[in-house]
Amino acid sequence: MTPQGRALRIAMVAAEAFPFAKAGGLGDVVGALPKALERQGARVMVLIPDYGFIDRRDHHIQPYAPAPVIRAPLGGHTVQTEIHAAWLPHSRVQVFLLRGGGYFDRDGIYDDPATRKGYPDEMQRFIFFMRGALQLLSELRAPLDVLHCHDAQTGLVPALLRRQYWEDPTLSGVRTLFTIHNAAYQGIYPRDALRWAGIDDGFFYPGSPFEYWGKVNFMKVGIEYADMISTVSPTYAAEIQSDPEYGAGLEGVLRRRAGDLFGIVNGADYEVWNPETDPLIPANYSQDDLSGKAICRRELLQRLGLPAAEGPVIGVVSRLVAQKGLDLIEQAVSQIAELGVLVLLGEGDLNYQQFFKQIALKYPQRVATRIGFDNSLAHSIEAGCDMFLMPSKYEPCGLNQLYSLRYGTIPIVRATGGLADTVADYDPVSNTGTGFRFYAYNPGEMMYAIRRAVELYRDRPRWQAMMRRAMSQNWSWDASARAYMQLYARICESR
Ligand code: ADP
Ligand code: GLC
Repeated sequence: MTPQGRALRIAMVAAEAFPFAKAGGLGDVVGALPKALERQGARVMVLIPDYGFIDRRDHHIQPYAPAPVIRAPLGGHTVQTEIHAAWLPHSRVQVFLLRGGGYFDRDGIYDDPATRKGYPDEMQRFIFFMRGALQLLSELRAPLDVLHCHDAQTGLVPALLRRQYWEDPTLSGVRTLFTIHNAAYQGIYPRDALRWAGIDDGFFYPGSPFEYWGKVNFMKVGIEYADMISTVSPTYAAEIQSDPEYGAGLEGVLRRRAGDLFGIVNGADYEVWNPETDPLIPANYSQDDLSGKAICRRELLQRLGLPAAEGPVIGVVSRLVAQKGLDLIEQAVSQIAELGVLVLLGEGDLNYQQFFKQIALKYPQRVATRIGFDNSLAHSIEAGCDMFLMPSKYEPCGLNQLYSLRYGTIPIVRATGGLADTVADYDPVSNTGTGFRFYAYNPGEMMYAIRRAVELYRDRPRWQAMMRRAMSQNWSWDASARAYMQLYARICESR
């Protein structure tokens, strides 16, 4: 609620929203948080690019009749932009999809599947999206309180709002929140970005919000211009201000805005990730009846061509990038294969893809690798494994550990960022904890945590008690949505 006692009106701008487009956790967040905000009484809409791979029929996407075409400013001209609309499933959250200029009718979100690299015109793509989104919001004339921008692909929005829409009847008073999902992807481009964005080149000088080591850094602009900033866990909020390993060069900028920077942990969408109802897994199960999980385990091994396993089945579902601590798994993989079975699903860096494919050939009975993006297999791995491994170098929040908890698949995590905030270490004395944590980033520490887990796994009653403890955790979006509501209210009050 606003101070005037009416519903808060929020628009989210992002590059991903599940189920329309998802490359990682950002998609999950933008697909779920708006629904949770709606349950808190907010009115929310979402704006995303209209990628070529999005199936119109599956998602009931229609041309947006009141404004099927707009003209988005870009560089010195305007681009004819088609507007489509749909609803987030089971909600009244309207989703607007923008396409034009040939920027989005392609098969990839960020990377070209053919080259595994970013599209050469990624700067123009997302500037077009940002300018189109603002233009659409202006033309919709729907009153708005807060514009919530996510990650570097929307980093210029707070600045464009202030520089270009300060007299706009709909947008002039709108406040902004910029959420950092991953400080390592900053969107750094040549100075020419300002011309495309329609920002006067005079704003580019050393130390200005628009200048970063001689270039334009979209994330820096977002941090400097947004009314407030958030990131996806309290621990990561502290890490990115204090340590270049985490802040990736933005520590100073973030420290300067420390008073306006908040950490709100992500939630899990239990409408999508719930072993009691999940339609994508072979058998449903609950804390009271775990028998379905044994079926999921058996079928997972079968599906991956692995023999029935004695030891624990350990799962990994991940973008294959350095962030995820895959080099620790690389260094320890033979030890892991001695203790249990490793199941890995992911896509990303070619070196990792190659390594994990080879290792599956080397240990055909103990390691299975699937390269690609496969949502249904991701669900089956969450359900069918005994343990879930996330040895991340850094992890702003992480969602898979939350899903793992709910599926009774005990997480083994490096205690960083959101992993530190959501997984409690097992304590044999008090018999408490929901997972296994390690601290120092090296394979020895990781293996020590895995060994502790395997030891407990052999003690069936204690292991099952731990599974039930994990499954009874509540990491639904509701608490986080309440925290966002308070933050939005605070932003509006600071007007
Ligand atoms: P990040 O956003 O850094 O990738 P998160 O843990 O926040 O990490 O979220 C990752 C999300 O993407 C999860 O929902 C996970 O299941 C999903 N995911 C990652 N890789 C794949 C893949 N190869 N196939 C299917 N789902 C994947
Ligand atoms: C990023 C982070 C991940 C987080 C996700 C959603 O991709 O890497 O830790 O969970 O965003 O906020």
